[in-house]
Amino acid sequence: MSFYSIDQTKCKKCFICAEVCPNKLLLKDKETGFPKMRIGAEAACLQCGHCVAACPVDCVQLEPMPNDHFLQVDSSLSISSEQADQFMRTRRSIRSFKSKPVEHDTLQAIVDLTNYAPSASHKQPVQWVMVESPESVREMAEMTIEWMMELRKNNRELAKKYSVAGLIAGWKKGQDLILRGAPHLAISYMDKNKTWHDTDSAIALSYLELAAHSRGVGACFAGFFTYCANDYMPLREKLGLQENHVCCGGHMLGYPKFTYPRIPMRKKLPVNWL
Ligand SMILES: Cc1cc2nc3c(=O)[nH]c(=O)nc-3n(C[C@H](O)[C@H](O)[C@H](O)COP(=O)(O)O)c2cc1C
Repeated sequence: MSFYSIDQTKCKKCFICAEVCPNKLLLKDKETGFPKMRIGAEAACLQCGHCVAACPVDCVQLEPMPNDHFLQVDSSLSISSEQADQFMRTRRSIRSFKSKPVEHDTLQAIVDLTNYAPSASHKQPVQWVMVESPESVREMAEMTIEWMMELRKNNRELAKKYSVAGLIAGWKKGQDLILRGAPHLAISYMDKNKTWHDTDSAIALSYLELAAHSRGVGACFAGFFTYCANDYMPLREKLGLQENHVCCGGHMLGYPKFTYPRIPMRKKLPVNWL
């Protein structure tokens, strides 16, 4: 089978596959009139799957992406814009969690959804560490406090910038202001030499947060933890991060202890319409 092929018995020559191709790699075969891939264009293919996904008669095949791995869109699952708006507005950063663990399959489904986040040149560079055990999450919060204590001794300027004094004091009083007693943690990382790593990972983290929200699972960005994961060797080793890896952010995860009957106000959005 060639890299890009079509079933000529089904193809209606609509050329939607060619139009949606981001790099315009498909053209009309002068002899047959069917779409074909430009010679030598395989390497330029992003493998975004648009040509296969958009074909109205399911006649396109892309060799590295078997058609049976494409999910059928179920239009009965469509939601209204009002529903979608409320869903996004009701996402909150959750900082109080029930001790009840989130089921493994739910955590798996949440992280799997991040695979559908857009990424620059469709590189899909984001990798994850899922910390499922609440004991390990607690241990990592403690390691972050240890790092902060070292920072206070060795780098007063940074210690001040990160307000570590209050976080350490809270920990000593039994308050976990680092990972908020969350039972689980999702950490995104990637090769630090990748372009767009901040953007790709921020989008993936947002997908994760929304996927959690849709399942009634609360999430909160773990900012202090992320600083630590990029600086403190014992934590990097615990996470299995290599020297070339940058930790892009983490989310605490768990069932929310409280529900929010209101959506908080936001400051006026600055938008310039040109
Ligand atoms: C990059 C980033 C880092 C954050 N780090 C923390 C954190 O370390 N601890 C925390 O409690 N909240 C953290 N937050 C959550 C923000 O405080 C929160 O998004 C903001 O207060 C708005 O509340 P909302 O998310 O409920 O709308 C972080 C958010 C972002 C985007």
